[in-house]
Amino acid sequence: MIIAANLKTNLTRSATRSYMQELEKFADASSSADVLVFPAMTSLDSFQTKSITIGAQNAYPTQNGAFTGETGLEQLDEFGIKTILIGHSERRHILGESQELLAQKFHYFKEKGFKIVFCVGEPKEIREASKQEMLTYIKKQYEGIDSEYENLIVAYEPVWAIGTGLTPTLEDIEDMHAELKKISSAPLLYGGSVKVNNAKDVLSVKNVDGILVGSAALNAGDFGRMIEYADELNKIK
Ligand code: PGA
Repeated sequence: MIIAANLKTNLTRSATRSYMQELEKFADASSSADVLVFPAMTSLDSFQTKSITIGAQNAYPTQNGAFTGETGLEQLDEFGIKTILIGHSERRHILGESQELLAQKFHYFKEKGFKIVFCVGEPKEIREASKQEMLTYIKKQYEGIDSEYENLIVAYEPVWAIGTGLTPTLEDIEDMHAELKKISSAPLLYGGSVKVNNAKDVLSVKNVDGILVGSAALNAGDFGRMIEYADELNKIK
C-alpha cells in the first residue's frame, strides 16, 4: 500500500527535518507500506532516509532556464528527487494550471523516468449533477496523460472533500475506484479529508491501493498511525 503525505505550504525547513525524523520511526524497514512525503519546495533536502520517498509537489517541465519562480529538473536532481505530484486540485483550481500544461509536465517527467502521482477529482456541482457527468469530467482530466505509464500512481481526490472534513461514503469511493481502474490499472489512492479515524476504513475499500493525506499528515504521529494501519491490513489480506 502507498501512504502519501502532501504537506502543501506548511512547515519550515527545520520543522520538516524534525518531521522526517519522527516519521522514520513508523516507516522503518519493517513497514510494508510505501511511504511518500511531498514537502514544501523550500524544504526539499537530501534526507537521510531509506524508508521514505521524497517527492516534489510541483515542478516546471524544464531542465533549467528563465521561468521565474519555478523549479526545474536541475534543482530536483540536486536532492535526488525522482517523484512528483501532478494535477493536484489546488494547482488546477487555485493556480489555474490547464490540462495542456499538466499533460506537458506529465510527458516531461515521464521521459525522465519519474514516479508520477497524478491527481483527478470532481468539484461539488459535478458530483451533484450525475454519475455520468462525473465520469465525463474526470475522463477529461486524463487527456494527454499516458494512463499505462509504468511509474504512474493515480490519486482520486474529490475537490469538495479536500480540506473540508467531508468525504464520500465508502460505497461511493468503491464505486469511483472501480470506474477509475477501468481507465488505468495503475495503483489508485484516495485523497480528501483522510484522518486517523477514517483511514483504516478507507484503506480497506476494494481498489483503494493507498491514501494521499493533507492536513492530517502534518502531525507525524497521526500520519505514522496511518502507516501502521496499512501494515495491519497487509497482514490480514
Ligand atoms: P486533505 O488534503 O487531507 O487536507 O483533505 C488532501 C490533499 O489535498 O491531497
